[in-house]
Amino acid sequence: MHINISPTKTEVAKNFSDYLEELIKDNKTTHIALSGGSTPKVVFDYMAEHYEEVDWSTVHLYWGDERCVPPTDSESNYKITVDHLLSKIDIPKDNIHRVLGEDLPELEAGRYGKVLEEELPIVDNIPQFDLVILGMGDDGHTASIFPHEIGLWDSPNNCEVAIHPDSGQRRITITGKLINNAKTVVFLVTGSSKAEKVRSIITKEEGHENYPASLVAPTSGELIWFLDEEAAAQIN
Ligand code: 6PG
Repeated sequence: MHINISPTKTEVAKNFSDYLEELIKDNKTTHIALSGGSTPKVVFDYMAEHYEEVDWSTVHLYWGDERCVPPTDSESNYKITVDHLLSKIDIPKDNIHRVLGEDLPELEAGRYGKVLEEELPIVDNIPQFDLVILGMGDDGHTASIFPHEIGLWDSPNNCEVAIHPDSGQRRITITGKLINNAKTVVFLVTGSSKAEKVRSIITKEEGHENYPASLVAPTSGELIWFLDEEAAAQIN
């Protein structure tokens, strides 16, 4: 596990984007699962502004989770990515693998699971991403696997339907077997509200195993935390 600490959220975005640019340049084809939430917006904005020379034709984008809302809804991770990145770069439409179809088939976790089987290399009978980008919630959730449904992590399926604990919003999420089969998993975690869970998970405190983010442990891949100083305040 590597930990990369930057002073601010913007510098996390820069450092991670520099890392990602190298990964894209080094790979013939790169299959990347994007995360949702607010942190990726800063990363996407930086990438859109600084990635003129990146050859996006070799990059395939997926989502680690998606809210079951229309693609025009401000909650949609797909919409966030379109607004902050996809509308500003030259990437083939066929390289963008949305979780939900135009008709918003809410319970189509199985359909997305099949898309991943078809598009990704299969390693140890499991679709393999080159890179899975994850955030972490204040409650220690990651992707859309929340503590109250931590059992979804061990699902035998590639994807599951999850329920947000507060809003009841349905979400589709990839499961632990895909996350831990990735070549590289990156956490992008910023802000003081994350510091306590970051400490608990990274130092493996008693009870850390109750947080889904603590289950991220790539079988043979690499795990890198990109943190800002606020989120890392309790591990220095
Ligand atoms: C989502 C994300 C979720 C997110 C965390 C952290 O769809 O909301 O996948 O897991 O990464 O909630 O979000 P922030 O980056 O906004 O703190």
